[in-house]
Amino acid sequence: DKAGYKHFMAKEIAEQPAVLTRALDAYFADGAIALPEPGLDFSRIERLTLVACGTAFYACLTAKYWFEQLARLPVEVDVASEFRYREPPISPGTAALFVSQSGETADTLAALRYCRDRAETIGAVVNVTESTIARESDLVLPIHAGAEIGVASTKAFTCQLTVLLLLALRAAHARGRLDDAALADKIAGLRALPGLVNHGLAIEEATRDIARRLSEARDILFLGRGIMYPLALEGALKLKEISYIHAEAYASGELKHGPIALVDEHVPVIVMAPRDGLFDKTISNMQEVMARGGRILLVSDATGIREAGDGVWQSLAMPEVDPWLAPILYALPAQLLAYHTAVAKGTDVDQPRNLAKSVTVE
Ligand code: M6R
Repeated sequence: DKAGYKHFMAKEIAEQPAVLTRALDAYFADGAIALPEPGLDFSRIERLTLVACGTAFYACLTAKYWFEQLARLPVEVDVASEFRYREPPISPGTAALFVSQSGETADTLAALRYCRDRAETIGAVVNVTESTIARESDLVLPIHAGAEIGVASTKAFTCQLTVLLLLALRAAHARGRLDDAALADKIAGLRALPGLVNHGLAIEEATRDIARRLSEARDILFLGRGIMYPLALEGALKLKEISYIHAEAYASGELKHGPIALVDEHVPVIVMAPRDGLFDKTISNMQEVMARGGRILLVSDATGIREAGDGVWQSLAMPEVDPWLAPILYALPAQLLAYHTAVAKGTDVDQPRNLAKSVTVE
């Protein structure tokens, strides 16, 4: 049931404040982060391996920044279809987490089986808790997104991010990187996030107008730095899968190593730039694009947009957010831009050509 929305995807984007709240509620007991049994002892784990496909893979890439920066826990991230063919050595003390909305993705499942007798613990971050990936794991971490029908993953992505972030916070605490007060502070920030996401939905109107123009483009670039780089990748994936416009994402600093040759006045460049420690560097990369005639869509907060100065083609003003939470909030513009561009093009948003919701063949 689309609950009055034109597409499941629109409904699922709008549901995010509610499902994020539900996911958070499920992981707290007496004010502390609580994991389902048998839990995960982060004081013993020495490294994490995260494996997934598509959007879930980008959630893992984002989580690498959290685990490494907040908990100083080394993380490897792999696309599932590559993982086992590389025959990666899995050292003792490794926890392997498999992230999958459906819990049935063939490559992710095969990667899990590769780790079965090699990793210390196998965890499943899944939406469907009765899935094969969940059944074959030692620990099941549900994301509580509720049924996701649109082929383009939206609320599952932000719920995956939320659960992975909770794990990173728990790891940071267990490894002595966050004391009780600092953890309480982070938790308060996270608890306020669904409210911010709700405010963020106010960009929808502006997004619709911009998307109408984006729908005329043949190629679109996404740029992000640091933890916003995986989100740029997710934005490009979302856009191409439902609007069929060619989109690519680059780490902002990588642009001048080749892809800037693509830039001219016909290529919109979407810059994901919350005001974090890398903001100034991202803006200077953005100016390099502008100097070559590129049309910039800047996604930042109102202050960031003001500081970036004149000359951008379009901007979208997000609520202010702590930088470490920005990937979850900025998933909204990535999703809404893809959605409205696809609507403007008249594609089959919920069931794009050539794609299946669950990919059960390798
Ligand atoms: O069910 P899974 O999370 O394992 O699916 C992984 C990918 O197939 C999935 O995220 C795909 O990339 C989405 N259509 C992206 O929107």
